[in-house]
Amino acid sequence: MSQKKPNSMILGTGKAVPERILTNHDLEKMVDTSDEWIRTRTGIERRHIADDHIKNSDLASQAARAALEDAGISAEEIDVILLATVTGDATFPATACYVQEKIGAVNAAAMDLSAACSGFLYGMTLADSLIAAGKAKHVLVIGVEILSRITDWTDRSTCVLFGDGAGAAVFGPAKNGAGVIDTYMKSDGRLTHLLCMIGGGTSVPMKVAVEENLIYLKMEGPEVFKAAVTAMGDAAARILEANGMTGDDVDLLIPHQANIRIIKATSKRLGLDDEKVYINVQEYGNTSAASIPIAIAEAREKGILKPGMTTLLVAFGGGFTWGSAIVKF
Ligand code: UT7
Repeated sequence: MSQKKPNSMILGTGKAVPERILTNHDLEKMVDTSDEWIRTRTGIERRHIADDHIKNSDLASQAARAALEDAGISAEEIDVILLATVTGDATFPATACYVQEKIGAVNAAAMDLSAACSGFLYGMTLADSLIAAGKAKHVLVIGVEILSRITDWTDRSTCVLFGDGAGAAVFGPAKNGAGVIDTYMKSDGRLTHLLCMIGGGTSVPMKVAVEENLIYLKMEGPEVFKAAVTAMGDAAARILEANGMTGDDVDLLIPHQANIRIIKATSKRLGLDDEKVYINVQEYGNTSAASIPIAIAEAREKGILKPGMTTLLVAFGGGFTWGSAIVKF
């Protein structure tokens, strides 16, 4: 195994999930579904849902503060805030700017990044590149979603899948061999229609969207499923190969948490045993951009992800977008 020398590393992580829990049994009372169907088809048992007064920037700021504390970095030391989301506080300004104000990161440039479930990996790639280029020393990357606000709670094909939450990581210069070994990003804009919410943009302005009930996330589940299995497997295999590694060199796979069957297909393709795969989809459902950073923060809190471990991160989402990263902690 010949690994590249990393430029940046994760100095600290944090997460924030709403207290309110919606179980599969709660959903049985809302739509024609069953706990059994949801568990066996997706692996999800419950998800956390933000109360009406909670904003995207509130969850993001809570996760960011936790990550800063974990990193031992003050908010003033952050040079760039990259916030990945598709459910920001407003169309503009960027939710990252609201977060900047809330956490007091007065010296930062702040911007949002829209890459759906791959957002955190895309953000990580940019953070690593900014640090490598000497344009920033500390970059705060946040993945955050309040998908419950764009969920059609009468549509059983989507409403059982998603949840709310935020995860954050502070990136800084690499040291002691730890860090971002490599990242990979890819998109396919020919498949935008399979997972989207078109209402509220400029193609279908909000007034028209409300009149035509185009105000919810739409997904062609089986099509997305097939594409996710292929793309996540490819992204994982490709980055390992590019770095002269195999599944044997991975201590922990931390995949996007959309569906346990997609996760199992990915780990099987890499030949990874179950104990080398971090799974928390049962607790949070699919939190899109927040899914990987929540999983990283949680795995570290639980002592499952330890210093010195080599992780493989892999994601897939709307766009389509997908990607992978090898990170040594
Ligand atoms: O994060 C971005 C990436 N997103 C994903 O990766 C999600 C990808 N898609 C999936 O995870 C799966 O496609 C789903 C979990 C959404 C659906 O699972 P599936 O095995 O592909 O089921 P299906 O859509 O083919 O539906 C099978 C049956 C259908 O009934 P019939 O036509 O066979 O009678 C559906 O109407 O299950 C029915 N069904 C449900 N039944 C109970 C669909 N949703 C539900 C439900 N409860 N919630």
